[in-house]
Amino acid sequence: MGTFKLDDREIAFEPGDTIIRAAHRVGIDIPHYCWHPGLSVAANCRMCLVEILPPPGRPAMALAVLQWDPEKGEYVDQKKPKLQPACQMTVTEGLEVRSASSPHVERARAAVQEMLLLNHPVDCPICDQAGECRLQDYWLEHQATAKRMRDEPVHKPKAVVFGPTIVYDAERCIVCTRCVRFTAEVAKDPVLNVRQRGNLNEITVAPGRQLDNKYTLMTEYVCPVGALTASDFRFKARVWFLRSARTVCQGCATGCNAFLDYDPRQGKVYRHRPRENHAVNKYWMCDDGMLDYRRVEAGRVLHAAIDKETATLGAALDRAAKALQGVDPDRLAVVLSAQHSNEDNFALLKLARDVLGVGNVFLGGKPDGEGDDILRHPDKNPNTRGVTALCTTAPPRSMQDLAASVTMTEFTAVLALGSETRDLADASALGRLKTQVVLATHDGPLSRSATVLLPASSWAESDGTFVNAKGIAQESEQAIGTLGDSRPAWKLIAGLAARLGHDFGWRKLADVRKAMSPEAGAALVEATAHAGATP
Ligand code: SF4
Ligand code: SF4
Ligand code: FES
Repeated sequence: MGTFKLDDREIAFEPGDTIIRAAHRVGIDIPHYCWHPGLSVAANCRMCLVEILPPPGRPAMALAVLQWDPEKGEYVDQKKPKLQPACQMTVTEGLEVRSASSPHVERARAAVQEMLLLNHPVDCPICDQAGECRLQDYWLEHQATAKRMRDEPVHKPKAVVFGPTIVYDAERCIVCTRCVRFTAEVAKDPVLNVRQRGNLNEITVAPGRQLDNKYTLMTEYVCPVGALTASDFRFKARVWFLRSARTVCQGCATGCNAFLDYDPRQGKVYRHRPRENHAVNKYWMCDDGMLDYRRVEAGRVLHAAIDKETATLGAALDRAAKALQGVDPDRLAVVLSAQHSNEDNFALLKLARDVLGVGNVFLGGKPDGEGDDILRHPDKNPNTRGVTALCTTAPPRSMQDLAASVTMTEFTAVLALGSETRDLADASALGRLKTQVVLATHDGPLSRSATVLLPASSWAESDGTFVNAKGIAQESEQAIGTLGDSRPAWKLIAGLAARLGHDFGWRKLADVRKAMSPEAGAALVEATAHAGATP
């Protein structure tokens, strides 16, 4: 690995690195709009210009320019170093680069910034990007002067509907083409392009098409300004009121790393956006995952029920314990959930084996769906691998097996985590059982037929570990407090165990993690990848 100097700091680089990529790797930010580490180089915004010092004994590349002389009151001939875009310039051994320390670079950045804002509407008070907009940040860092242009700015189309999820404002667009490159290079649906020239140019959708694929929301996310907004988030919240939890997407077995943005004042979740992890999702998420945050509130089971009548949590736990106590362990089926964390599933396994003496363990979860070769996995559950790894003695049996056994009257009762059964036919078989104790987060076939229903919290309301399809164990962080009467499933299970005469001694999640056997832990943690912020 070679080195070069950036503002007198020695920086290591890998073969083929551009200046900006090498700097980015060591955490130095060279201001940029059009560059994105996951996309090809366009080098069109010129915000990343840097000064390259000539090798000793060689003259610097210089440009002839006209510069305003305030004393003479006229423009005079001058020379200035020819600056280079750091996003395009490949690093070579011993290169000396000046970025923040060059007055020429600072002047160029201020000029680029002023040019980008010449025709900008500066409608920050009503713009969804305000608070996380690069035009705002870089204006403050690199320009910080009032607008000099007194002419009417060029007006362009506003609120253009690009498709079901995205709205475009051409006046705010700096034509960096990140969205164009994303749709072509990552989403493989080259439906966006630039039309016109100069200050009339704008982004447009191909004639007869819409921006409508499985990755449309990423175009809004890569847009460095407020030109692309998501219909889902538009005008809903101001970002400076939001906090972010580092979560794992629950939409499929890829387990994309995400930020779940929520308003702590109301305990309300507003959006899901990608968190960089090169081993899992790089910089991206799919639309299903980005919109999956809605399930924190949508279709939730928030109160306990006994025989379909709302009940207090205490009464439902009492009834569940009483119902389970009387069941022959050989006739009780326990259903784990690929929708729930390792900790929740471990708690249920422990209750089943150590307290109830049950060996009939099955695995429930959402049915398979569509996948692709970008991110989306056909297994629509975030933790199939984790649950399977927890079952160290024998793998859990399928829900079809359970349905067949119920039909053969092998079982009289079921204790299930989650309300999904992969297949509706399985659910109707289970619905015939006399005792159905279900711990559910969302409304589903099992929660609807439960004789005792216990409300379990969602992934947003508790910490948890999920193992993705590649076998990478990842932690998801709690964002908000528990909704309704719900409690984390491991807590409900500890409550059930206590009523059955076994104190697990779990007061917090760390106690559950401590109790998880070292073998189960080792089976789960095959790798934990670096996760950080997306540029
Ligand atoms: S809409 Fe956004 S991402 Fe697309 S070119 Fe304009 S500024 Fe860039
Ligand atoms: S690919 Fe799967 S894990 Fe990733 S964002 Fe989409 S649904 Fe979520
Ligand atoms: S980031 Fe280099 S030219 Fe835009």
